[in-house]
Amino acid sequence: MKRRSILVVAFLVLSSLFFIGCNNDETANTKTGDSAAASTSNGNEVHGSQIQPGDVTVTTPLNQAWVTAGKSTYDVKCQSCHKLTDERVVGPGWAGITKRREPHWIMNMITNVDMMLETDAEAQKLLEQCLVRMPNQNITKDQAREVLEFMRSNDGVK
Ligand code: HEC
Repeated sequence: MKRRSILVVAFLVLSSLFFIGCNNDETANTKTGDSAAASTSNGNEVHGSQIQPGDVTVTTPLNQAWVTAGKSTYDVKCQSCHKLTDERVVGPGWAGITKRREPHWIMNMITNVDMMLETDAEAQKLLEQCLVRMPNQNITKDQAREVLEFMRSNDGVK
């Protein structure tokens, strides 16, 4: 009887350590995101407005200036949770993402993650797998478009 309750307590302690670990991660990354956002001037453009399928056009060849800008956003704000391979770290790896998802879906996920986690079944499925809510990274629509171009480049589009 006694031994059993010790086991239960040990389990609870261990599992709460696990969750604290995840939360710490998230807080640390949110802070990085915030301080980076504070240094850019155009952070308050788009939040709350939803991007419709017709709002995003993708063309080839890639816009290389966007690819470069998108990569710097990735390096500062996304890299800690997303790899460019298919390996999951905190969030899913980005390899093949532009083949799995519609462009406007990706941009909504980047600019409006809270709305997506509330309303979109696919986003909710990801949350179930990852157990961590992607934090809002204060990304403008233009920056999100650049990140999308970088993702297309990562997926082999020229
Ligand atoms: C603190 C970790 C974290 C950071 C930083 C982060 N994400 Fe995420 N991201 C996640 C998680 C976790 C998910 C899965 C959905 C969920 O659980 O909220 C996700 C999902 C996504 C998805 C959908 C992935 C798929 O396979 O469909 C996209 C797109 C995305 N993130 C883009 C970004 C971009 C762009 C940035 C940087 C501007 C970024 N994320 C920064 C954690 C993060």
